[in-house]
Amino acid sequence: RAPLPSLRLFSLLHSRSSFGIAFDIDGVILRGRVPIGGSPQALRRLCRDSGALKFPFLFLTNGGGIPESRRASELSELLGVNILPSQVVQGHSPFKNLLKRFENELIIALGKGEPALVMSEYGFKKVLSLDEYASYFKNIDPVSQYKNWTTEKIFNSKANTKDLVPRYDVLSDRVKAAFVVSDPVDWGRDIQVLCDVLRSGGLPGQENGPQPPLYFAADDLEYQAAFPSERLGMGAFRIALESIFNRIHHNALEYTSFGKPNPFVFKNAEAILRRLQPSCHDGYFMDNGNTGSNSFETLYMIGDNPLVDIRGAQKAGHPWFSILTRTGVFKGKENHAEFPADLVVDTVEEAVDYILKKES
Ligand code: G3P
Ligand code: MG
Repeated sequence: RAPLPSLRLFSLLHSRSSFGIAFDIDGVILRGRVPIGGSPQALRRLCRDSGALKFPFLFLTNGGGIPESRRASELSELLGVNILPSQVVQGHSPFKNLLKRFENELIIALGKGEPALVMSEYGFKKVLSLDEYASYFKNIDPVSQYKNWTTEKIFNSKANTKDLVPRYDVLSDRVKAAFVVSDPVDWGRDIQVLCDVLRSGGLPGQENGPQPPLYFAADDLEYQAAFPSERLGMGAFRIALESIFNRIHHNALEYTSFGKPNPFVFKNAEAILRRLQPSCHDGYFMDNGNTGSNSFETLYMIGDNPLVDIRGAQKAGHPWFSILTRTGVFKGKENHAEFPADLVVDTVEEAVDYILKKES
C-alpha cells in the first residue's frame, strides 16, 4: 500500500544520500582557471534548481593559497554552481589543527596567493609571509637586484595582507615554524631563506640552532595546470630544499607533509560530507553543522593523479571508490599499472554520469 502523503513527505525530508563525492580540482575540474571535462554540467546535476545540494559533494585539492571562503566564491563563479566554503578542502586546510601549538608564536608562511592571510584566517596571530619576512633582512637574497619584481611591489598589491599583519622584531624573535601553504613562487629566494631560518633555529644570519618545525600542505611531485605537460609541484620544491639543506647542514631536514594521499585527508572529507547531508528542517542538503551518525555506502574520489588521488582513496579503504580521469596527469589508455583505479573514464562528466546511473 502507498504510504500516506504526510509520511511520504516525512521520508523525503529526512532522506539521506547513501553516497558522497570528492572532486579533485586541478586536472579534473579546472586546468588553470578554465573548466574542463564538462565540469560545470556535471556539478549542476548534483544541485537543485534552487542552487542547494541534491547530493553531498566537496572539492578535495592539494592546491591552495587563498582562504577556503574565497576559493568557494571563485569556484562558484568559474563553474556556475553555488559552492559553500565548507565544500572546499585545500592542502593547507589541516594547518588549522596546529593552531593551539603556534597561535601566539612567530611563524612564516610561503607560496603563491596570500599565504599569510590564509594562516591569519585560521587564527594564527603572529604570521608573516616569507616575502615580508625576507624584506626585513638586508642582502638576504644576493640576486634580488636582478629580479624584475620587488618585495615592495608585492606588498603594494596586497594592501589587505599588509594591514592584517603587524610588524615584529624579527631580529630577536625566533621563527617557531615555517608553513609551505601553496606552490612557492621564487624557489631560489625561498630555499635560501628557509635554509637560513631552519638551520639557525629561527634567527637568520645567526648561530646554528635546533630546526623549527616545517610543514608542507602537500607533496605533489607534479600536477596538471594549463600547460600541456605537467608542472613541478610542492613535492618537487620539497626535494630541492631537502637536497640542498642536507648538503649544507649536519642534521637532515625534518618536515611533515599534509594533503592527499594521506588517509586522514579522506577521513576528514568523509566527516565533512556527512555534515553536508540533508537538514531535517528544509529537506535540502546543506552544511547543517550536524556531525551525522549515518555512514555512506560509497564515497567516490574523482582524480587525475594515480599516485595522489587514487593511491589515497585506496589507502583510505572502504567506503572509498576511486575514479581516474584522463584530463590531467594520467593520460594512459588502460588503467594505471601501480595504482589502478576502480574505474577509468575520460572526463569528470562521464564519472558523474556513471555514479548517478549506479546510484539511481
Ligand atoms: O598545486 C596544486 C596541485 O598540487 C594539485 O591540485 O587539485 O590536483 O589536488 P589538485
Ligand atoms: Mg589533480
